[in-house]
Amino acid sequence: MTPAATEFITPLTFQALSGHPVHSHLLDSGEEQAMGHISLARWADVLVIAPATANTIAKMSHGWADDLVSALYLAAECPVFIAPAMNQAMWRKSATQTNIKQCQQQGVMLIGPEQGSQACGEIGFGRMSEPETICERLLELEPLPCLQGKKIMITAGPTREPLDPVRYISNRSSGKMGYALARAATDAGAQVLLVSGPTALTPPENSELIAVETAAQMYDAVMARTAMCDVFIGAAAVADYRPAQNVPQKIKKQDALISISLEKTRDILAEVAQLQSARPFTVGFAAETHALETYAQDKLRRKNLDMIAANWVGREQGGFESESNALTVFWHNGCVQLAMTDKAHLARQLISLIAEKLNEKNTV
Ligand code: PMT
Repeated sequence: MTPAATEFITPLTFQALSGHPVHSHLLDSGEEQAMGHISLARWADVLVIAPATANTIAKMSHGWADDLVSALYLAAECPVFIAPAMNQAMWRKSATQTNIKQCQQQGVMLIGPEQGSQACGEIGFGRMSEPETICERLLELEPLPCLQGKKIMITAGPTREPLDPVRYISNRSSGKMGYALARAATDAGAQVLLVSGPTALTPPENSELIAVETAAQMYDAVMARTAMCDVFIGAAAVADYRPAQNVPQKIKKQDALISISLEKTRDILAEVAQLQSARPFTVGFAAETHALETYAQDKLRRKNLDMIAANWVGREQGGFESESNALTVFWHNGCVQLAMTDKAHLARQLISLIAEKLNEKNTV
């Protein structure tokens, strides 16, 4: 409990009702070495902060650790959920929304809040999800397989294909899906190589980041490292075409129509999957605006992949930039739908599926 929580309900009431000890002090003299937050962080399989106030969320997003709850969050290496609860105006305030986004980028998973009448008498978003809903979300949490000793290379984000020294062709990928996969894979104990185009994201601790800009740089970075990898996941939105000429000086404005010739880039995913020796288990993505399943299954076969994760793009929810996504995953004799959820949660489900299929392949 935070000091503010103990103003509402005493720790003794909580203890009596739950039948469990209540911790509320950052430095606990009852604990060996008086560092209760470290031993609690090590003990927990999952950390759930409910209700999460605007103040606690702000502290989490900025790395403050001046009470037990915020210190516990900073020390925790397990999955973290928050169930926000606050006045509707506080929830809508841009500072809170920025803090929420920052927490999500740190891997925190959001439960709620819901819309409805609030303790302050107002109506709007900010009501904490019902405890039953919170429990249901936790039960859905995919327990991660053990990928200790496995090396996984993941591509993420967009590529930038230069037109001249100041302009480039790119796409809407934020890198969120690829970075969520990197986090889930490191959480499962794998050694992760993250080959990333330009994003605003922080790679998970324990992963190795190889920053690239163009499709050609991503190709070189990936192909130089495939031999050391057990799994390759192509989550990046790699440009299919690049300007045929990269003009050394800024293209000047002119009245006449101008055209740009484009040439094909090399298909990284297809080349990894075609490797004759030391070929990693190869997982592609398919981003489609129409005929999702047909195109995905075609890519699975044509590129010789072990698995493909298909997602809709260009829609209001899911795909590029969004915090959430849904996937239809195909392999040669099967398929599974992973329902719309936050990318962190989805990534854990996909990593579990990859581990299962990798295991099946290695035991055949
Ligand atoms: O980054 P976010 O904002 O979180 O968005 C996530 C995402 C939509 C980018 C992600 O989920 C996704 O779908 N990534 C693949 C995007 C893509 O380029 O799809 P595609 O259908 O055009 O390509 C098929 C596959 O070939 C992909 O695995 C791609 O990485 C790979 N490819 C494509 C071209 C190329 N030259 N080399 C490749 O390796």
